[in-house]
Amino acid sequence: MYAAFRSVGAYVPERILTNEALEKMVDTSDEWITKRTGIKERHIAAEDEFTSDMGSKAAAQAIERSGISKDEIDLVICATISPDYFNMPSTATIISSKLGLPNVMAFDISAACTGFVYVVSIAKAFIESGMKKNVLVIGAEKLSAITDYTDRATCILFGDGAGAAVISATENREEAIIDVHTGADGTYADLLMTPNGGTGSAHDALDAEAKSSCFMQMKGNETFKVAVRTLTNDVKAILDENNMTSDDIKHFVPHQANYRIIKAVGDALKLKEEQIVLTVHKYGNTSGSSIPIAINDLYESGKLHQGDMMLLDAFGGGLTWGSALIPFAGPKA
Ligand code: COA
Repeated sequence: MYAAFRSVGAYVPERILTNEALEKMVDTSDEWITKRTGIKERHIAAEDEFTSDMGSKAAAQAIERSGISKDEIDLVICATISPDYFNMPSTATIISSKLGLPNVMAFDISAACTGFVYVVSIAKAFIESGMKKNVLVIGAEKLSAITDYTDRATCILFGDGAGAAVISATENREEAIIDVHTGADGTYADLLMTPNGGTGSAHDALDAEAKSSCFMQMKGNETFKVAVRTLTNDVKAILDENNMTSDDIKHFVPHQANYRIIKAVGDALKLKEEQIVLTVHKYGNTSGSSIPIAINDLYESGKLHQGDMMLLDAFGGGLTWGSALIPFAGPKA
């Protein structure tokens, strides 16, 4: 049995936070942000709009496009670092109930910006082992809830949103997800971290100093260098191991953190401009959601066709990283 990537869906909140609006909040400029990151705007969830709300909307769309009925979904996995509740219940269980899914196994995983590649890897393993048949995978983030809007080094980067996909069992090898690579190295834990707290009301009672440790903190420059090195090496490895070259890739879908990182990796791999999917200017860095949101943009622009080979590549806090070679299978006939 193989795992087929059948469909994609996404949701971003209505409110847009532009670089010009950020100029009024911190000492920065549209010019600096554009030049250093490529980001022009990001979407921000309403106060009463939760990670599970965004995840449910993206997931409903992915199910609708999959050719699989929601009653057939037998596993739900959500990648998030900004869950509705930090300990329990998991965001995946809330999404399941919001969608009216049957009583199926549901859990969250925490792998930061690599989250979506990790959930694809888990879905593939469950399907290939025969344990599950139709897996709903979601990346959903309300990063605005863990972003310090007085810290210009981080608040310009992040946005909210969700993306989802349905991955299902197939006997057709042509449709199969070819390979997924995943890795992690906790010795770099301090490059990107939220030392304390959660996204809910848990930190409201804390004093200002304690509260600031609930927000993301980042060593941007070091992260940048490790990101370029790790992303490039990982993609080279997955292509080599599968006897493929960058010419075999129709769509390179990198984690959308920073245009300069994407460009550096694209150049190192000699990818052509038309192979690289870019959405960072519109949504900023949406962590675990960024790859499925980018695939959804590709799909909705009419550029993603059945059989197109996608190469996913992600990097994030942990540190974690991963890549995947995935032909777009399209809906189940
Ligand atoms: N506006 C204006 N100036 C800013 C700024 C902002 N928003 N943020 C930082 N600066 C300043 C710094 O204070 C520093 O000033 P100094 O030279 O007077 O000390 C200068 O700009 C350069 O800072 P530096 O951190 O070296 O910039 P950079 O070129 O590395 O760009 C990032 C900063 C954050 C854009 C970049 O490091 C980055 O994208 N890193 C990766 C982050 C990432 O992708 N994280 C998620 C991984 S999934």
